[in-house]
Amino acid sequence: MAFTVAIDGPAAAGKGTISKAVAAHFGFAHLDTGLLYRATGARMLEGSDPVDAARALRPEDLQRDGLRRADVAEAASQVAANPDVRAALLAFQRRFARLGDGAVLDGRDIGTVICPEAEVKLFVTAAPEIRARRRYDELVDSGAETSFQDVLADVRARDARDMGRADAPLRPAGDAVEIDTSDLSIDQAVARAVAVIAAARASG
Ligand code: CDP
Ligand code: CDP
Repeated sequence: MAFTVAIDGPAAAGKGTISKAVAAHFGFAHLDTGLLYRATGARMLEGSDPVDAARALRPEDLQRDGLRRADVAEAASQVAANPDVRAALLAFQRRFARLGDGAVLDGRDIGTVICPEAEVKLFVTAAPEIRARRRYDELVDSGAETSFQDVLADVRARDARDMGRADAPLRPAGDAVEIDTSDLSIDQAVARAVAVIAAARASG
């Protein structure tokens, strides 16, 4: 029986870090669904129609260089507001969720739209200033030239667009367990997620 873990939340809350760690811990597959929107956004920046690009997406497109760039994140959030783009990416995500023994998917709408029947739903958050600081540190480490204020403005703009869109807005599912990572180390955040998943497996 496939076991699905849905992890949603805003930018740089720690979704990816937690997802990778719990996938390794339980031997589950992991899909960072943000990469689907980033790869589609990257194609739009190159001049493609975003709906055509989403329909033509291939697994190797998720490995492209540059998908973590700030302009690609912004483009991802723009294409993500298009219902036809979201529809084009839906079936792949649902199939992934049911592959193998278990799967972890992280994004914005996994618990609400993609996998509303997921066995575990986590909503990972942190204060905007803390998320912006984490993202700023990552961008500077990767050689990007930016300021903390620019990154904070980008994070806030993306939060507003992701929460405000009509189709699949970012919000916690009613049955999601919230993990606020503002004051947690990575190890502490991972331990909380592992505990929630282990309890669900034991009771399920
Ligand atoms: O996937 P998402 O954008 O939600 O966040 P992430 O890529 O997992 O985490 C963003 C950054 O925050 C990474 O550099 C993590 O190492 C860091 N992080 C942290 O400092 N403390 C945590 N409790 C979780 C993540
Ligand atoms: O890593 P970070 O949390 O900054 O962003 P991401 O997860 O890579 O997602 C990039 C953008 O894709 C988000 O700002 C959303 O607009 C969009 N997205 C979405 O709409 N639905 C998802 N399931 C995943 C990402």
